[in-house]
Amino acid sequence: MTFDVRVYGSIDSTQDEAARLARAGARHGTVVVAREQTGGRGRSGRRWESPLGNVYLSAILRPGVPPARVPEIGFLAGIAVAEAIDEACGCRSALKWPNDVMVSGAKVSGILLENREATVILGIGINVRTMPEGVNYPAARLGPEIEPELVRASVLRRLNRWLGEWEQAGFAAVRQAWLERAHPVGTQLTITGPEVLEGRFAGLDPSGALLLETAAGLRRIVAGDVAGL
Ligand code: BTN
Repeated sequence: MTFDVRVYGSIDSTQDEAARLARAGARHGTVVVAREQTGGRGRSGRRWESPLGNVYLSAILRPGVPPARVPEIGFLAGIAVAEAIDEACGCRSALKWPNDVMVSGAKVSGILLENREATVILGIGINVRTMPEGVNYPAARLGPEIEPELVRASVLRRLNRWLGEWEQAGFAAVRQAWLERAHPVGTQLTITGPEVLEGRFAGLDPSGALLLETAAGLRRIVAGDVAGL
């Protein structure tokens, strides 16, 4: 696939612009890029600080899979971002469920998946030159010398490759690559979200749900955050 990349200066949110374009009929593979956002959004209704110097993009995807498989796209996007970050910083980034990308235990990138009917809007934010202050988790940036445009181009190349792999071979290879970068099985995790749960990470089920071995037995978690890893 070739992405149709549209670059904006300042915009409310690339998610919102992508949704507007999608409603107007924009094709699968249309990508909205902004240099800054005035109303950047994170998961669970949080704000995403979006000054100049970072990567903000949203891709319109019409993957032709049932809604239950849409979260798989977040995992493959996480891998694509992690690989691009490794290339940019010469480091080995890690993934935290469901799809935060971490460097040395601090979050450098977040992914937001929104879908309506057959359209998925995949949003990616990467702290390249700046990072947010006053957030309730450790945050990091890649560094002031790193070029956001190069990171963005690398993410899109890798995203294209992983989307192709997923379309052809399904979720299994994505799940494997994700697990290789994630907290190891057995790690003690606290999950916050609809309810707070503690237990040991027991892997991902075939659909990407987090498996948690709790004192009360094995739980399958589809929504939430991993706190303080
Ligand atoms: C998270 O909470 O971890 C997800 C953050 C997603 C941020 C990106 S930046 C590009 C796109 N536009 C938005 O408003 N949000 C996403």
